[in-house]
Amino acid sequence: MQTQAMTMNAPTDFEAQWDAIAWSDDFATGNAGIDADHRRLLALFNEFSLAVNAGKGDVVIRGVLDDLVDYTHYHFAREELLMQESDYPDYPRHKKMHDTFIRQVDDVGNHLSVGTELGAFLLSFLAKWLSGHILGADRHLGRYLERGGIEH
Ligand SMILES: [Fe+2]
Repeated sequence: MQTQAMTMNAPTDFEAQWDAIAWSDDFATGNAGIDADHRRLLALFNEFSLAVNAGKGDVVIRGVLDDLVDYTHYHFAREELLMQESDYPDYPRHKKMHDTFIRQVDDVGNHLSVGTELGAFLLSFLAKWLSGHILGADRHLGRYLERGGIEH
């Protein structure tokens, strides 16, 4: 799957318009709860993308980013609980990916005084990370949960 955001050369290309990431069955993990969270995450990503495309100011972009980050915290906690409850063998590695992601987004968010340049940089990073993580680590987890008959 390719999106414009993944192929752009951010941040120097921040005049560009950023594509939304549409849900596709490729993202399905086999776990309905995780998939519902991922749909919401992508919707928040798309709101962020729209705000950047529209050239919204610092306050708006910061607000949308905060929503995305808050929801990401909530979603990661849910996935991590599922992993712990199901004795998922890859839990430490997966948890580390989550922690690193949160730290990276916090770092970027804290150091730049927003504007479209920050938006473009984050969009590129988020688009790659979210799709890569869902298609890789989360689908792996989904298959494990499916095999164990764990559905929530
Ligand atoms: Fe995950």
